[in-house]
Amino acid sequence: MATMTVKELLKSAAARENIVVKGWIKTRRDSKTFSFAEVNDGSSRENLQIIFEAKDGDFTAVLPTLVTGVSVAITGDLREAPAGARQKVELHARKVEVYGGCDPEKFPIQKKQTSDEFLRTVAHLRPRTNKYSAMLRIRSELSFAVHKYFRDNGFFYVHTPILTASDCEGAGQMFTATSLDLGNMAALPKTDKGEIDFSKDLFGKKTYLTVSGQLEGETMALALGKIYTFGPTFRAENSNTYRHCAEFWQIEPEMAFYELQDNMALAEDFVKSITRHVLENCQSDMDLFSRFVDTDLMATLKNVTDSNYERLAYTDAVKILEPENARFEAKVSWGVDLASEHERFLVENYFKKPTILYNKPKEVGSFYMKLNDDGKTVRGMDLLVPRIGELIGGSERENRLDVLEKKMADFKITPEGYWWYLDLRRFGSVPHSGFGMGFERMMMLVTGISNIRDVTAFPRVPGSAEF
Ligand code: 4AD
Ligand code: MG
Repeated sequence: MATMTVKELLKSAAARENIVVKGWIKTRRDSKTFSFAEVNDGSSRENLQIIFEAKDGDFTAVLPTLVTGVSVAITGDLREAPAGARQKVELHARKVEVYGGCDPEKFPIQKKQTSDEFLRTVAHLRPRTNKYSAMLRIRSELSFAVHKYFRDNGFFYVHTPILTASDCEGAGQMFTATSLDLGNMAALPKTDKGEIDFSKDLFGKKTYLTVSGQLEGETMALALGKIYTFGPTFRAENSNTYRHCAEFWQIEPEMAFYELQDNMALAEDFVKSITRHVLENCQSDMDLFSRFVDTDLMATLKNVTDSNYERLAYTDAVKILEPENARFEAKVSWGVDLASEHERFLVENYFKKPTILYNKPKEVGSFYMKLNDDGKTVRGMDLLVPRIGELIGGSERENRLDVLEKKMADFKITPEGYWWYLDLRRFGSVPHSGFGMGFERMMMLVTGISNIRDVTAFPRVPGSAEF
């Protein structure tokens, strides 16, 4: 007896005796002479058809219990399906073992209630639906594609800390991480000013959950050449949008000796390559999304894989956007930070293809971005895609110690905690660049799913940390 997955069975040649398949009943229907059930075990989008016939065994007692959601092990023989059947093979049952029942009155995953909003309230069970199991399989394959891309291109995978004392983006959106018992105010150590004394905390200073592994990533790029991180990052921004989560996974490559142009070329090649990988390796699951979630999906992804991305300096973007101000909620003029409505206008209406926006005003960039010779703009870049806007944010890094120190002062960042980051500019500094891609945003791009809450199993968004 061999236990096989549905995926293996559907690929296998017909006529195999004594096969065991384990999974969950999707549907069952009875005719006068046969019963049919569809079983799915998550290994693929497709179900395996099971045939129950009186000549193969006595199923009269068990059949009525085989309702949607029941978990089973079914032993039988794999045979060729009749012409015209959806699958080439079907399993003729001889024995059924029920692991766990599933009350159809109470099981929340029903054909009637399938709205995304409802399914978020049962996120522990939504992986049992076709859509969310397909999403999770694609998420797995997309993760693999990320590692494969960097490995094939000579990058080393490094791990950066999740607990950190530095604010990479300087945007003050950090979650404090403490071992102090905040529930016991009286027992908290206090400073003379009456504030919580974090020097008495576990690390001897105030620490946070990281917003980005970039700063630590730079230290390893300046030793190994080309590195990338792929890990969870956290932002305590209280924004309820379709594209922000408080916890998201970020992919951050960092390359010594890369200048801004090299960084842009890498970002474009990376996005194209992992998109292609998913198209080639997840055909059946992608078919679900292009038919039922976003009927423009394949055209959008063809645009992502086949077009030459527009490269647009911020100043030129403003020249395009300013005359269109009537259509925008936030008005554009030189110096403003562009919002998603502007990004999407450029990509969806103007260029009609992915666009890399670079050289933004230094005030709207981050402290570590390299200052251009004009003294006004920095070598930051954002890769913008249809439906989502910013998919990637990155820059060439400021590698001159004096300029960096001046910029940190402008951003009111105290240098103490950054002594090690400044050391990289003291000892063998080189031009270098990197970027960060939000993994969930990439998932939104490839699946056509329109809300970030639905491309991750357990979204962390304002007001919601259930599960
Ligand atoms: O543009 P960001 O803030 O850049 C950085 O963190 C840099 N340190 C990256 C680097 O250069 N190594 O974030 C990078 C990307 C964004 O383009 C977006 O895709 C994603 O991370 N992102 C979010 N995704 C989901 N929810 C959020 N709240 C996000 N904030 C950023
Ligand atoms: Mg950004």
